Amino acid sequence: MKPSVVLYKSLPDDLRQRLDQHFSVTEISGLTPENIAKYAEVLQSAEGILGSGGKVDGEFLAKAPKLRAASTVSVGYDNFDVDALNQRGVVLMHTPTVLTETVADTMMALVLASARRVVEVAERVKAGEWQSSVGPDWFGIDVHHKKLGILGMGRIGLALAQRAHFGFSMPILYNARKHHEEAEQRFDAQYCDLDTLLKESDFLCISLPLTEQTHHLIGQEQLAKMKPSAILINAGRGPVVDEQALIAALKDGTIYAAGLDVFEQEPLPSSSPLLELPNVVALPHIGSATHETRYGMAKDAVDNLIAALTGKVEKNCVNPQLLK
Ligand code: GLV
Repeated sequence: MKPSVVLYKSLPDDLRQRLDQHFSVTEISGLTPENIAKYAEVLQSAEGILGSGGKVDGEFLAKAPKLRAASTVSVGYDNFDVDALNQRGVVLMHTPTVLTETVADTMMALVLASARRVVEVAERVKAGEWQSSVGPDWFGIDVHHKKLGILGMGRIGLALAQRAHFGFSMPILYNARKHHEEAEQRFDAQYCDLDTLLKESDFLCISLPLTEQTHHLIGQEQLAKMKPSAILINAGRGPVVDEQALIAALKDGTIYAAGLDVFEQEPLPSSSPLLELPNVVALPHIGSATHETRYGMAKDAVDNLIAALTGKVEKNCVNPQLLK
C-alpha cells in the first residue's frame, strides 16, 4: 500500500501526478484549524504532509501520530516547531536553493522602487497629475554608488550583493553570524557589526529567517541609528522588524522610506497605517512569486517528500541529524 500523504497546497498537474504515483494523496485547502478537525481521520494515518503556511507544532503532531516527513514549499520554516519535529523524529524538508535569484530580484526591485518612488509617481501619472515637466516633488534619490547594507548573508543576501556590486556599483556592507568569504572576495563586501551597518547603510536590506533571536531585531532603537536618508528593505520575515516602530520612523522622518515584501500580519490588513504612507512600497509577499520559480519550488517539495519517505534524502533537509 502506498504511504498516505496530506497535500495542503495545490500543485501543477504534472507534479500532482508524480505525487500520486508514489503516495495515496488527500488534498485539503490548507492546514487551518477547521480542516485539521474535518480531516482528523486522514491525519491519523498520514505519513507525510506537503504544502505551505499553517502551524505544525506539538499539538498538530499529536493529531498525526504516523507522520514521518513534512515538506514545505518555502525556504522559511518558522511555522514549524523544529524541536517538536525532532522529538517525534519527523524529517523536515524545504526549498532553499531554487528561489534565491528570484527573491534577490524582488529585493532589488524594492530598492529601486522605493528610492525612485516608482509606485507613487506612477500612481500620480495615472491620476492625471503629470501636467508639466516634473519638479523636485517628483524626485527620488540615487541608487547607484550608494552603500547597500545586508543583514543576513545567506544565499539571497549573496545574490543581492552580486546585483548591487556589478549592476549598480554599490559598496556592500554586511552583518551576519559569521564572515562570508565568497561575498568578501567576489563583491568586496565588508563585514561590520550591526550598529555600523545601521549607521552607514543607505539601504538596509534584511534577509533573515524568523527565529527567537531575530524577532524584533530592528526596533525603535535600531531605526534611530539609521540615516534620515536611509531606506529599509525587508523581504525575509515581517516580525524581524517591529512594525509599529517602523511606522513611527517613517512618519517622523527618522528614515526616508521602506520597501516591504513581508509584514507582521499577512495578508496585511487594509487598515494598516503602512498603506497610508507615500514613502512605503508594500508588496504581497511575492519574493519568489514568478511562474518559473514557484513551479521549481513545488517540484523540489515533491522530490523532497519522495526522498524523505523513501529514505533517500541527499539535500534540502532542515534536521538531517534524524537521518543518521
Ligand atoms: C517565502 O517566504 C519562503 O520562505 O519561501
